[in-house]
Amino acid sequence: KGHHHNMVRGVTFPMPERRPFVRLPTDVYPVNYGLRLKPDLIDFTFEGKLEAAVEVTQGTNQIVMNCADIDIITASFVPEGGDEINATGFNYQNEDEKVTLCFPSTLQKGAGSLKIDFVGELNDKMKGFYRSKYMTASGEIRYAAVTQFEATDARRAFPCWDEPAIKATFDITLIVPKDRISLSNMNVVDRKPYPEDHSLVEVKFATTPIMSTYLVAFVIGEYDFVESQSSDGVTVRVYTPVGKAEQGKFALEVATKTLPFYKDYFHVPYPLPKIDLIAIADFAAGAMENWGLVTYRETALLIDPKNSCASSRQWVALVVGHELAHQWFGNLVTMEWWTHLWLNEGFASWIEYLCVDHCFPEYDIWTQFVSADYTRALDLDALDNSHPIEVDVGHPSEVDEIFDAISYSKGASVIRMLHNYIGDEDFRTGMNAYLLKFQHKNASTEDLWECLEQASGKPIAAVMNSWTKQMGFPIIVVDQEQHGSDRVLKISQKKFCASGPRNGTYENCPNWMVPISICTSEDPSCTKMKVLLDQPETTVNITNVAPDHWIKINPGTVGFYRIQYSSAMLESLLPGIRDLTLLPVDRLGLQNDLFSLLHKQADMQEEKNRIERVLGAIPAPDLIQRVLNFALLYIALRLSKRCLHFI
Ligand code: BES
Ligand code: ZN
Repeated sequence: KGHHHNMVRGVTFPMPERRPFVRLPTDVYPVNYGLRLKPDLIDFTFEGKLEAAVEVTQGTNQIVMNCADIDIITASFVPEGGDEINATGFNYQNEDEKVTLCFPSTLQKGAGSLKIDFVGELNDKMKGFYRSKYMTASGEIRYAAVTQFEATDARRAFPCWDEPAIKATFDITLIVPKDRISLSNMNVVDRKPYPEDHSLVEVKFATTPIMSTYLVAFVIGEYDFVESQSSDGVTVRVYTPVGKAEQGKFALEVATKTLPFYKDYFHVPYPLPKIDLIAIADFAAGAMENWGLVTYRETALLIDPKNSCASSRQWVALVVGHELAHQWFGNLVTMEWWTHLWLNEGFASWIEYLCVDHCFPEYDIWTQFVSADYTRALDLDALDNSHPIEVDVGHPSEVDEIFDAISYSKGASVIRMLHNYIGDEDFRTGMNAYLLKFQHKNASTEDLWECLEQASGKPIAAVMNSWTKQMGFPIIVVDQEQHGSDRVLKISQKKFCASGPRNGTYENCPNWMVPISICTSEDPSCTKMKVLLDQPETTVNITNVAPDHWIKINPGTVGFYRIQYSSAMLESLLPGIRDLTLLPVDRLGLQNDLFSLLHKQADMQEEKNRIERVLGAIPAPDLIQRVLNFALLYIALRLSKRCLHFI
C-alpha cells in the first residue's frame, strides 16, 4: 500500500513519492498559550517557556505538535487538579516539522496544562523568530529580533499547533534589554525589572482574542514612532528606524483614515485596542498582517516628505489598506486551510483599492488597478502554464509554490467582477453576514459564496467556481444587428489562448459563467443591461438604441475577459474615444484587448494601423505617441517571447 512502481525495461524503481501530508491529531488542542521568550540579541539565541492550557478530548499518552529548529529541554503535563507527568521522550519528525511528546501514563480526557522549556536560534533566514540588522547613528551594528510566521513558521519560535484552524488565545511575555522597544499583538499590561538580571525588563502583553498561530508577532529593537487616535478610538502607531519618525506620518494618516473605513464597510469594529505598523530593515515579503502588529518592508511604509513621488505614496496607501483589510478578512475570520489563501489575498488585493479610492479619491486608483493587476492577470492567465487560482493545498510547503501573481491579481480581479455583478449593497450585506457568522472562527471559500448567495439571490457559487477552479478566461466575441429601434447582439465565448489553437480536439472546451454588462453612447458610464452568459453563445436584445448610437461591452473594464468586437462595432466606438465620453478605464481596456488580439507577426502592420486609427481619435498627439511607442515596444517584447495566437 502506498508504493508506486515505475516499470522501465523490466526493472522497477520506486517512484520518488511525495509523502502524504497529514494534519495534526485533534485529541489534544490548545485553549491558551502562556508564552515567555527571552531573546539574546548578542548570541542570537532565545530561551522560551510555554505553559499552554489544553483540552484532552480523548485519553492518550502522547501529544503531537509542530516544532522546527527548536530544542526542547523539558516537557510535562499537569492534569487539572492532578499531579505533574513528565514527558519521557521527545520524538522529532524533522521532515514533518513535528515533535511527539511521549508520556509514561495516559493523559485523561479533560483540561490540563502543558509545560515546555525550549531554546532556539534567532536565525538569519527572515522567517520564524529572526534577527534583523541595523546601524545606530554612531555607526555601530546592532540587531533587532522580529517574527514572520505566515504560512508555517510560528513553529520555529515555539512548539505549537501551527494550523490556521487551531485557534487559541495568547498571553505573551518578553524579557528584553530595558533600553529596547518591545512589541507584540496586544498592548502592554505590565512592565517590571527581571529579577535575575537588572539590565533586563519583563514586558507582559494583554491576552489576545482567539487567533491563529500564523498571526502572532513580536518585535524587539530600537525604533521611533508617531502616534494618533483613529476616529473610532483605536491607538495607531507607526514605528520607524530611529531618527526617521517624520517618514511614518503618511502611513499614520492612511491607517487612521483606513480603520474607520473598514469599520463602516464591514459593520464590525476593529477588535483590538491598538494597532502598530512597523518598518523592518530585513523583511522577506512586502508586508504581513499580524493582528495588531503589522510588519512592513521599509519601502512599503516609509515616505520621505521632502523627497518622494506620488507613486510611492500610492504604493504605501495600498499596502497599508491591504494589511488593515486582513485585520477583519483573515484575522477575525480565518481561512480553514491554505487552499483558501487565494481568497484571503485576492480579497485584500481588491478591497485595498476600494479603500484607497475612498480615502484618496484624487489618486484615481482604479485606473491603476486596471493597468497593473487586471491586465497582468489576463496576460499571465492566457499562457498554457497558468493554473487555477484555487488549488488543493496539502503540505503547507506548497503554499509558496502556488502563491503568485495569478492568485493575487486574478484573485483580486474576479472579486472585483463579483462585486460588480452582485452590486455594492448586497455585497456588503453578504460580507457582513459572513463576518458575523464566522468571527473568531474559520471559514472556507464556499462559506463566503453561500453568504453572498443569500444576500443577492444570485448563483454565486456556480459563477465563481467557473473562474476559480479552472485556469484561463474567455474571449467574448460580439456582433450586432439593428432591428428597427432594437439592437440585437450576438455574444459567444471561447477560451482565450496566447499560445495559439491547440492541436486536436476541443471536446472539453471550457465554459465560464460570464457576468456581462452593456452600455450605450447615451450614457457610457452607466450600465444599460446585464446578462449572465452561462452557455457558449446567446443573443441579447437591447430596446431603443438609435442606429447611430454605439454599444460597448464591459463598462468600467470589470469583467475578467477579453472582447473581440466585429469591425463595424469597433469602428462605431471611435467617436466615444474621440470625444472622451468613454471613460479612461474603458479606453485602457479597449486598447489592451486590441493589442492582445494580435495573432501573428505578419499582422503587425495591419494591427498597428488599426490601433493607430483607434488611438488617433484621441485629441492629444503627444499622448498618442507615447502610448503607441509603448504599445509597439510591448508588442515586440511579447512576440519575441512567444508567438501570440488566439483560437
Ligand atoms: N499575508 C501576506 C503576506 C504573505 C502571504 C506571507 C503568504 C507569507 C505567505 C500579506 O498580506 C501580503 O499580501 N503582502 C504582500 C503585499 C501586498 C500589498 C500585496 C507582499 O508581501 O507582497
Ligand atoms: Zn495579503
